[in-house]
Amino acid sequence: MNLISVKVSRFDPVYDKEPRNQEYSVEVNEGARVLNVLQAIHTIDPTLEFRSSCRAGQCGSCAVRVNGEPALACMEEAVEGMIVEPLALPVIKDLVVELVPGINLIPRIHPCDCSVIPDPKYVEKIKPLRDCIECLSCVSVCPAMQVTDFIGPTSMRAQMRIALDPRETESRIRDAISQGLFTCTSCQRCLVVCPKEIEIPGKAIEKLREIANREGLTLPRHQEVEALIHRTGRSVESAGETFLEQIPEVIEPFGQVMGEVGFFVGCMFNGRLPERAFDMIEVMKRTGIRIVIPKDQVCCGSPLIRTGQTTFLNELKEKNINAFTSRGINTVMTMCAGCGSTLKHDYETPFTVKDVTEILT
Ligand code: SF4
Ligand code: SF4
Ligand code: FES
Repeated sequence: MNLISVKVSRFDPVYDKEPRNQEYSVEVNEGARVLNVLQAIHTIDPTLEFRSSCRAGQCGSCAVRVNGEPALACMEEAVEGMIVEPLALPVIKDLVVELVPGINLIPRIHPCDCSVIPDPKYVEKIKPLRDCIECLSCVSVCPAMQVTDFIGPTSMRAQMRIALDPRETESRIRDAISQGLFTCTSCQRCLVVCPKEIEIPGKAIEKLREIANREGLTLPRHQEVEALIHRTGRSVESAGETFLEQIPEVIEPFGQVMGEVGFFVGCMFNGRLPERAFDMIEVMKRTGIRIVIPKDQVCCGSPLIRTGQTTFLNELKEKNINAFTSRGINTVMTMCAGCGSTLKHDYETPFTVKDVTEILT
């Protein structure tokens, strides 16, 4: 047995104005989970309230924050000095939060009066979206919900799951738009905290936006960006000479050449912030790495993917991949976090993609 000291948030709305952290020291087995610690505390302080049921990561009832991050108490390993708090949702008492209003928002299917058995191809597409255990961890962190009436990530997950189900009787895309489909910022926080690793931004929100696009419901501002990329290959207009217009295609480092990378510039650094890209080149010259900067690279396509406008996305991907493979590049460096994430997660590249910070460290 190990002695572990932790802090647990206590709050009783009848007596307390605000939550306070209470310290406890209890004995638990090696490898104990957060839930084991809470249960041990409960034996010495039965006033502490928390939820649990399955104790196997399957019911979602035990979700709390451990050191600030949502986690299932029954799955998360307890660590010395940890702070256990409720999810950032209205608190009923101690670690127990109000779940019912959030769960009631999750859309349900309107099944047809028929006996359709979903085709296996639909079942395969639905699978990644149906593992939700309604813990509401994603809802507790979604920034769009804090500033708009956005219905939230798991409700959008359910809308897409229903959209893929042939037993559903009506198109729900207008509902999804009125529930805030276009207010999600693609920040990925819901994916990071989801205990079931459900890819809500990519597998639900972007796919719903593709359906909206097919039905002519894309926002006018998003359509303007798509038209600009289609016309120029770039998502932003440049006020002056772009980085690619000014820079030679190959930059040799000072001293001996120790390696070579390709540089994917991205629309923002190419058109709006070229001086930042020049600064980065100056730093890279001191690393012994040759930089190859193909002039025929274009927008990575992120603005199209995030807004569901994917009709000519594959052309952009092909151009970018060819720009580097035709020059024999094995590693492509980015300095824009958005472009880097897109090349890493939305492309299948025959080369490795690294942020400049990964190359410098
Ligand atoms: S990706 Fe969208 S739905 Fe997910 S947390 Fe961010 S804003 Fe919310
Ligand atoms: S999508 Fe993930 S984080 Fe959100 S309620 Fe479902 S299981 Fe929990
Ligand atoms: S008790 Fe069911 S998920 Fe933790």
